[in-house]
Amino acid sequence: MARCTSVTLVFALFFLPLWCISFKFVPSPHSGRQQRVQASLKDAYIRPAVETDLDDITTVILDAFAPSQLYKYAFPQFDQFRQHHWNCMREATGREFKHIRKGSFLNVISVPTRDHSAESQGQLRHRVVAIAGWKIIKPHTASDEHGDVGLLSLYHSYAECSDNLDTNITRATDFNRQFSLAYKHFVDDYPHEQMYLAALATHPDWDGHGFGAMHCHWGMEKAIAMNIPVSLIATPAGWPLYDSLEFDSLANITIKTLDWPEDFWYEYMRYED
Ligand SMILES: *[C@@H]1O[C@H](CO)[C@@H](O)[C@H](O)[C@H]1NC(C)=O
Ligand SMILES: *[C@@H]1O[C@H](CO)[C@@H](O)[C@H](O)[C@H]1NC(C)=O
Repeated sequence: MARCTSVTLVFALFFLPLWCISFKFVPSPHSGRQQRVQASLKDAYIRPAVETDLDDITTVILDAFAPSQLYKYAFPQFDQFRQHHWNCMREATGREFKHIRKGSFLNVISVPTRDHSAESQGQLRHRVVAIAGWKIIKPHTASDEHGDVGLLSLYHSYAECSDNLDTNITRATDFNRQFSLAYKHFVDDYPHEQMYLAALATHPDWDGHGFGAMHCHWGMEKAIAMNIPVSLIATPAGWPLYDSLEFDSLANITIKTLDWPEDFWYEYMRYED
């Protein structure tokens, strides 16, 4: 059961298997949040991620998910160890990026921005502000073969570099166990080929520009061309977008919390043309 390496896609969050825990602490020069900059949004476009995007990708993921209740629940010391967390996550995304396989896609939307940091003095650069990870999953493939994706993926990888200074391991492990079961039931055991949206995140400074929808349309068009459904497990924050894109809400997944005022819920959703 211990499988800490060679997961397919980077990102979305939540998986921290105890058996993968090990550690080192490297302070990072990067702060999670970057300056707000002007951009001309008509120049926003979608493309496959390249290695030089990985810093931006890490920042998008972290800044998008860190405000969530789930982060507060599983990473109670996150604010204190933010740099460390970013650094680990950057290492994880780098490792995962090298293992993107056939049938997996990591797309980004970048916008031209003026970078006002001291070094660059207002130079124009393209900055990644939204990411999406997709995986075509064929039925009856051993999960070892296609690896964990999305929520399941990054934390296997994250845990490899993390000494979990910010983590409540009891909570994270319990969440991991429940979510894995739901993932297996709805996604892994689905008997047809599917286009699975493993992760979707927009940097909070760039919400409201339709970047999430742009990413979804990319995958939906691809799935329609292949005559397969799109599937995903939505967070409460993501649900309204998928609902507006006419995904069907098929099952409400409750993840019980241990000592938290509320349980977490996710919605298993599917889109078929
Ligand atoms: C799923 O269940 C929770 C808790 O009962 C509820 O608050 C939430 O609105 C439900 N989600 C959807 C998409 O129906
Ligand atoms: C971690 O979670 C456990 C189980 O919910 C809880 O009893 C404990 O108080 C938490 N520890 C910290 C440091 O928050």
